[in-house]
Amino acid sequence: MTDIVAVLKQFCAEFNPYLQSCFPLPQGAERRVVEAMSYSVMNGGKRLRAFLVCNTAGLFNVTTKDSFPVAASLEMMHAYSLIHDDLPAMDNDDLRRGKPTCHKQFDEATAILAGDGLQAYAFEFLANALEIRPEIRLTLLQLLASASGAFGGMVAGQTLDLYAESTGNQKEDEDIIARLEEMKTGRLLRYAVEAGTVLGQAPLEQRQHLISYSRKIGQAFQIADDILDREGDQKLVGKTLHKDDAQKKFTYVSYYGIEPARQLAQKLIAEAIDELKMFDSKADNLRALAQYIINRNY
Ligand code: IPE
Ligand code: IPE
Ligand code: MG
Ligand code: MG
Ligand code: MG
Repeated sequence: MTDIVAVLKQFCAEFNPYLQSCFPLPQGAERRVVEAMSYSVMNGGKRLRAFLVCNTAGLFNVTTKDSFPVAASLEMMHAYSLIHDDLPAMDNDDLRRGKPTCHKQFDEATAILAGDGLQAYAFEFLANALEIRPEIRLTLLQLLASASGAFGGMVAGQTLDLYAESTGNQKEDEDIIARLEEMKTGRLLRYAVEAGTVLGQAPLEQRQHLISYSRKIGQAFQIADDILDREGDQKLVGKTLHKDDAQKKFTYVSYYGIEPARQLAQKLIAEAIDELKMFDSKADNLRALAQYIINRNY
């Protein structure tokens, strides 16, 4: 059996120095925003999205290091989403990855700019990855933009997270929660896997199964996040807990209750692993990661 915790640790040991090297500090007063960007990218993080990019591309013989630029630009985009998610106008959180959130460590204006800077830099960094063929780079840029944006992407999901309300109709409410979580969390996780298939120029059928895998783990991932908010150990999770109920968030856990949510997550992970049937032991890291997503304690 794959020791996924050890595999992730080894991955971070290789990937984190690369990621850090993407943030040279400029001279002058603009140094502050780059410090805030670097702080928010490098302050921990499980690097699951980066790991998904590299391990999916690895199925098609792309080396881990060749996937690093794509993985790094995705972690930048993700870190931006977290900085803005934590802002007082959004979830108003003081703690992220066990450390002060960006606006607490710096200040609110710097945190807004650090998020803006990371979003732009994610695209700039990917566009400048000259070792990736131009047509592949363009496809990746289009997919990343769509996964992050307001038309069915992360920003759309975050908007529903803030403003969606119960309609009083169970079927409609279930659809809203599914759409909300699929967009706010699912789309960047799906992009991670899709980017790996694009880098690896995966055949269509394999690509379709991998994308189904990513959708299922994405949904299970957010359910696990919502369960951790309810019953995690704050020291391990590194975020202030019990906030979803306090802020009346519309989540699987608040809607279905914790046990049905847990069962749904388990079912999704079993289905996700099933999508990998056509791959041999090369996909063991992806199988183990799927399991880890619902068993993790942070
Ligand atoms: C947290 O994502 C935000 C959600 C989408 C729920 P992660 O749990 O992957 O955060 P890090 O990168 O490991 O801190
Ligand atoms: C955040 O969801 C998703 C994004 C940042 C896009 P949450 O608000 O549940 O994430 P946490 O719990 O703060 O990490
Ligand atoms: Mg949020
Ligand atoms: Mg939040
Ligand atoms: Mg959460």
